[in-house]
Amino acid sequence: MKLNSFFSLLICAVFFVPGAALGVDMGAHPYDDFKSPRYCGSCHRGIFQEWRQGLMSQAFTHEWDQVEYFRLALPHSRKLEKVAGIKGGCIACHSPMAFMSGDIPPRKASANTRANEGVTCDVCHSITGTSEKVPFNFSYNIEPGRVKNGPRKDAVSPAHASKYSDFVTSPEFCATCHDEKSPYGAVVKGTYREWKAGPYAAEGVRCQDCHMYHADGKSASMGKARKGMAHHNFHGSHVPGKLAGTVDVALYAARESVSSGGKLKLRAELFNGKAGHYIPSGSAEERMLWLEVWAVDSKGKRFHLPVKPAGFKGEKYTIADSSALSYMAMGEIMELDGYKGIKRDGNVPDGARIFRKPFFDPKGRQTICQWYTADNTLVDYRIGPRETKVEKYEWTVPQDAAPGKMTVTATLYYSEIPSSLGEFFKLPGSEYSPMVVNSASVEVEITK
Ligand code: HEC
Ligand code: HEC
Ligand code: HEC
Ligand code: HEC
Ligand code: HEC
Repeated sequence: MKLNSFFSLLICAVFFVPGAALGVDMGAHPYDDFKSPRYCGSCHRGIFQEWRQGLMSQAFTHEWDQVEYFRLALPHSRKLEKVAGIKGGCIACHSPMAFMSGDIPPRKASANTRANEGVTCDVCHSITGTSEKVPFNFSYNIEPGRVKNGPRKDAVSPAHASKYSDFVTSPEFCATCHDEKSPYGAVVKGTYREWKAGPYAAEGVRCQDCHMYHADGKSASMGKARKGMAHHNFHGSHVPGKLAGTVDVALYAARESVSSGGKLKLRAELFNGKAGHYIPSGSAEERMLWLEVWAVDSKGKRFHLPVKPAGFKGEKYTIADSSALSYMAMGEIMELDGYKGIKRDGNVPDGARIFRKPFFDPKGRQTICQWYTADNTLVDYRIGPRETKVEKYEWTVPQDAAPGKMTVTATLYYSEIPSSLGEFFKLPGSEYSPMVVNSASVEVEITK
């Protein structure tokens, strides 16, 4: 057997064969092996409230998760042998107890089963390690029961035994769910790999340090007062306050005055000073991060400035184009007659720079179906940890621009998915509306 096909067989095993998964097996543990978060929360009240407000508790029930699983992934798993394993695979990360109890596919969120509990306390604190050197695809080893694994060496609880765990306190723990390979072998989620290759890993700053802030307090009602108690908010891109200011934006004009009809050169610099990985990270196939530059003349008239192409490979995917239709595979999966794709870039104005990493299906078409991704190595134009991207603008000031003070503003926006996708599936606006990451302005005098 060629090494290559052996490798793809290995990968298939991850997704296909119940009983041959990395880490835990499908059906290995019934729901009853795990306590509900509400039970744990009866003593760990603060942590429970944090967990419930965050996405870990909504990992199965969140509207877009429901839509993507039940309307795209699940039907696809029944049509195409190669992706058959995602039926359980998605759930192994989004509702681990459902996967472990063999409740595949789970019933929809509206049925209110235990699948809705998502990524729970007892799942995370029963994880003991991983079957992989560089973890991905739910490769966690797990031993539900008496012992809860955590960060303390001296915890005493009336409800359970406690054990210090090097693993739970490591980024490799997060990697078991935050890195993912598709059935085609493409790395389709790489937050851990991005962190590992970046400056924060070298400095010993863990995922836990940025996503679970530490403050003095008690973790349990009858617990000890602790230094640096780990909070469980897991704030990420869905929290506007966490996202805001992650990237610094600066804008420079080459000249302080220019005549109408003259050429204005501008430069924007974007510095990712706060995320320990690329921004966007995680579900890069569908996240949108883009820079809009608008000039407003002294009479209030607005002009959108297109970015000056830099000439790199695959650049067309990084410049907004309202005529570009994409996401063809969705139409095939849903068997839509006459489907011609939807707007690739949603409502982003033509010519704006998009910081993205496009994913491509086996037919070479851009896709938001990460499980149906054969390749995503064409271009990665996201902003790396502590990286600065420089964008250039060369704009001919229109003759009809009013003389006087013109303000040029660069605004960096983020949305979880393209607006066209949100509208297509009629998702709640809150799941795809644009959030402002940062902005900067310069003033330029327009002379006659
Ligand atoms: C009856 C109260 C009670 C219940 C119920 C309870 N715990 Fe605890 N737990 C405690 C106390 C008390 C501590 C010790 C806190 C300390 O020393 O700071 C603790 C400690 C922990 C620790 C830290 C262990 C370590 O070694 O670092 C974890 C993790 C934990 N609990 C998880 C859970 C989970 C998961 C559940 C639900 C399955 C749960 N607890 C249910 C009271 C409880
Ligand atoms: C996504 C995985 C995950 C989930 C879900 C989770 N925890 Fe934790 N928990 C952790 C990690 C990781 C740490 C250690 C943080 C660190 O190393 O700084 C931790 C720490 C703790 C601690 C010890 C805090 C301290 O500093 O003494 C307790 C107690 C705890 N968790 C209870 C819970 C309870 C109760 C829930 C559910 C309401 C829960 N956890 C949900 C991952 C998780
Ligand atoms: C058992 C699987 C699992 C483990 C372990 C896990 N996560 Fe997650 N995490 C998820 C899933 C699934 C989601 C996505 C929820 C959703 O569907 O929106 C998520 C969401 C998040 C988010 C919110 C992202 C956003 O878009 O706002 C953050 C932040 C996060 N996780 C950090 C961590 C950190 C840090 C660790 C390790 C301490 C960790 N996770 C461990 C499964 C896991
Ligand atoms: C230096 C701090 C820092 C470290 C270290 C860090 N993060 Fe983040 N993370 C952030 C910030 C800030 C955001 C919000 C901005 C964004 O979405 O990138 C974020 C966002 C995220 C998101 C949402 C990404 C998206 O685009 O939807 C996930 C998931 C996540 N982090 C997981 C992790 C995991 C897993 C690790 C460790 C492998 C980690 N983070 C390490 C600061 C950090
Ligand atoms: C290896 C674990 C893993 C697997 C397998 C996995 N996911 Fe996820 N998924 C995650 C994590 C972690 C996030 C959060 C990343 C982020 O915030 O960018 C996520 C995010 C998502 C989101 C975005 C949620 C939001 O609110 O923006 C959707 C939708 C989703 N997954 C659906 C699926 C479907 C459908 C499958 C199966 C084809 C699947 N996932 C397989 C771990 C996984």
